[in-house]
Formats: sequence, C-alpha cells, structure tokens
Amino acid sequence: MPSTAGPKAYALILTALCSSSVIRAGDLPNTAASPLAQPRSMRQVGLPAAATRASIPTDNPQTPEKVALGQQLFFDAHLSADGTIACSTCHDPARAFTDGKAVSAGIGGRAGQRNSPTVLNALYNATQFWDGRAATLEQQAALPIVNSVEMGQPNLDAAVASIAAIPQYRQAFQSAFGTAPNGTDLVRAIAAYERTQVAFDSPFDHYIAGERDAIDPAARRGWELFNGRARCNKCHALSDKTRDSTNFTDNDFHNIGVLIVRHNVVALAKQARQMLASADAAAVDRAAIQTDMSALGRFLVTKKESDIAAFKTPNLRNLLLTAPYFHDGSQATLWDVIDHYNKGAGLNNPYLDEDIVPLALGERDIDDLVAFMASLTSPPYKEAAALELARQRKLSRTSRPQRDTERAFGPAPVRKKPPPP
Ligand code: HEC
Ligand code: HEC
Repeated sequence: MPSTAGPKAYALILTALCSSSVIRAGDLPNTAASPLAQPRSMRQVGLPAAATRASIPTDNPQTPEKVALGQQLFFDAHLSADGTIACSTCHDPARAFTDGKAVSAGIGGRAGQRNSPTVLNALYNATQFWDGRAATLEQQAALPIVNSVEMGQPNLDAAVASIAAIPQYRQAFQSAFGTAPNGTDLVRAIAAYERTQVAFDSPFDHYIAGERDAIDPAARRGWELFNGRARCNKCHALSDKTRDSTNFTDNDFHNIGVLIVRHNVVALAKQARQMLASADAAAVDRAAIQTDMSALGRFLVTKKESDIAAFKTPNLRNLLLTAPYFHDGSQATLWDVIDHYNKGAGLNNPYLDEDIVPLALGERDIDDLVAFMASLTSPPYKEAAALELARQRKLSRTSRPQRDTERAFGPAPVRKKPPPP
C-alpha cells in the first residue's frame, strides 16, 4: 500500500472509535485527535539533536505510518480487557501525559502503588519506570497492557486480537509494517509515537541559549542554588561538576527517604527475595504496581540491599503539570518537595542516600528554586502551569506539612547503619 494512504486510514480509525460506545463525550478531548497529542516539532530550542537520534533503536526506525498507528493505539481503550482504559487514561497529554492522581487507577477503578510519570521526553530515559525495570520504551509498553490493575489483559496476544478485529487497524499495520497486527509491532508503534513527544523550548531553554532575560532573577538564582548550596545537582545533573540543562538527571537511583518509615522494608525485602528469585518481567511488574513490595524500588530489579527504596532520578520538566510528586504521589506541591529535601528527610532510614542532608534553605531560597523549576515549562503548557503555580503558591501559604525549620538549620543527624542482612 502506498504510504500516502496512511493518514486516511487513521482518520477512519478515529471516526470509528469516536462513534463507538467505548469513548464517552467527556473523554473526547483526550483522544489521538487532540492538539496536544500530535507529534511535536523537532525544532525546539534546547532539543538535544544527537541524543534524540540516538534514542531511536536500529530495529525500530521512525516512519510517519508507524507513528500515526502508535498515536491511535496510545489513545485506544480497545487495548484493555474491558475496553475502558487506554494508555492515555493515565498519560493524558493535557496534563503533560500524567493523570493528576497520587497513584494511578486502571480497570474497575483499581488503584496501583505508583504515580504516573510523564511520557514527555521519556525517549531520553536510560531506563523506564521509577525502578528502571524496563530497558526500552518497547519493553515498557507491553507491561501495563497485561497488568491486572492497569489494562488487565491476560496476555499481549489478547490485546492484539481486539485490535485485529478492527479492519482499519489491519490496514494500518499493513502500511506501517507490511504485516498483520502482532505484539512486537504493536509495542514498536507505540514506542515510535512516544519518541515524538519531545518537550523543550521553555523560558529556561531560551536562557541557556543566551537570552539572559528569558527567565527572571528569581529563577536565575534558583538555577545557581540548584547547582550549589541546595545540592540538587548531586543527583539532578550528570555529575557534581557537569550541569545537566537538558534532562536534569544522573540516570541513577537513590533512596531520598520518601515515606520509607511507613514500611518495614527489611521484612519486605526478605519477602521479595523469595518471591522474585526466578521472576520474569511480568512478576516484577506485579510486585511494583500491586503490592507493598513496591516501596522497595530498585531493589525489586537488582536485589541489592543498597537499592532498597531507591528510585530513579526523574526529569524535572513541566512539573507544574505533573503534580502530585514522587513515585507515590505523596507530595502535593513543589514547596513540599523542597521542604522534604531541606530537612534532610528520612531520619531512621538506614538506606538514605548520603547526599540527603539538612540544607538550611530559607524561604526566599525555596521560592527561587520553585521559580527555576517553573521556568522549565514548555509553551503548550504555559497557561495551565501559571494557574497551577498560583494554586500551589496559595496552598503553600497555609499548608506546609513537610516544613521543619529546626531540622533544616540543625546539624546533620547521625546515620543509622543498615541492619545485617
Ligand atoms: C492505569 C494507569 C496506567 C496505564 C493504563 C498506563 N500507564 Fe504508563 N505508567 C503508569 C504508572 C503508574 C507508571 C509508573 C510505574 C512504575 O514506575 O512502576 C507508568 C510508567 C510509564 C512509563 C515510564 C516513564 C518513566 O519515566 O519511567 C511509560 C513510558 C509509560 N508508562 C507508557 C505507557 C504506555 C505506552 C501505556 C499503554 C500501553 C501505559 N503507559 C499505560 C500508569 C499507567
Ligand atoms: C540524592 C539524590 C537527589 C537529590 C540530592 C535531589 N533529588 Fe530530587 N529526586 C531524586 C529522586 C531519586 C527522585 C524520585 C524519588 C521518589 O519518587 O521516591 C527525585 C524527585 C524529585 C522531584 C519530583 C519529580 C516528580 O516527577 O515527581 C522533584 C521536583 C525534585 N526531585 C527536585 C529536586 C530539588 C529541587 C532538589 C534540590 C533541593 C533535589 N531534587 C535533590 C534524587 C535527588
């Protein structure tokens, strides 16, 4: 089939989907057709051209047909067991591909254990998921489809079967891959679409590109604090000495003390070691999404004690669209996140990263750090981010549950040693 037939086929799929009973009127903006769902310009200030090219696997080159197919699939609830949940249910482009919930809910409203991360710029992630249990976007895409609290399919073939029942999809697979619908190509198409979701061109990118006034003095002070006294660059940078103004991550995993006190991690680790001795990817995925073992983070993947409750250092772009924060959605505002770091969090947590220490940041420092993070907003989200910043600022005036000024300005506490294994 000539490739020009592609877009027409997708228009047909879209019409078929919108008129089906699965998608309700209220859901309509969150469809493959919504403006924020479209592949994004590769000519954004700050976009790392070489890293973008390098993120494309040789066995899954980008083509317009494949991307368009992936875009339809990403928004299509037919992939789920009961036809109610699409990838976009938890990764809504209007919310920078997150869901605004502390932890996501899938079929039957069943809640998982983790907060939905953005898909924007996920192509640059060295690993996928909070614990890095998937190496590629292709591997990642297969897991929510078969997780029983997400899309609930018994296996990937069941999702393929429901897609293959729709003639337009059979046609679209033909034009994208020259074959009938199948699992390998299904996740390839979704990953190819995700690789078009690049978000740069923020005021901060313009600042780094040399427009000094693109961000205000507060955000400029915040960026210096970030790489200095506030020590954020210990993890949100390539190294202590090399700033990362692209993705703000060391691609590593750290225990920063997020609610670890709520869990008896030693007992959980024992349980996980036994259960996951010979585990496959789907079993680790179940443990991460559906059980208390979720709190073990990277340990679920490596079984190394030093990885207990360590999570991936996330990208920090478009944060005003992705609240609440942390892997469990436990913090409501950016002020709460900084309060968490400022007090050196996680006392009595023997696995706490050595770079988490009291920071002695004052209120102006905290506001400056928030101003810096707010400057990482890409143009399509400008208005929504301004509203959210105002909301968070207002909330922070009356509610600062994580603030502990005494600890923030106090001495570094004596560290507990991990218990013997
Ligand atoms: C029920 C909600 C839900 C559904 C449906 C869902 N996801 Fe997710 N997604 C999440 C959550 C929660 C995480 C984090 C889980 C973890 O780290 O253990 C996640 C993680 C991811 C990540 C990793 C991002 C990162 O920064 O590590 C990608 C990419 C992603 N999802 C894409 C998809 C795709 C593609 C689909 C559809 C095939 C999908 N998701 C379906 C909730 C969902
Ligand atoms: C020791 C490493 C480390 C340091 C230091 C650090 N971070 Fe983080 N950051 C992380 C990790 C790891 C996570 C994810 C933790 C989790 O969810 O359990 C994270 C999460 C975040 C989040 C939440 C992002 C989201 O999508 O939910 C924000 C915001 C953030 N950090 C900002 C900062 C700022 C600002 C500083 C400096 C004051 C800082 N971080 C210092 C490692 C670090």
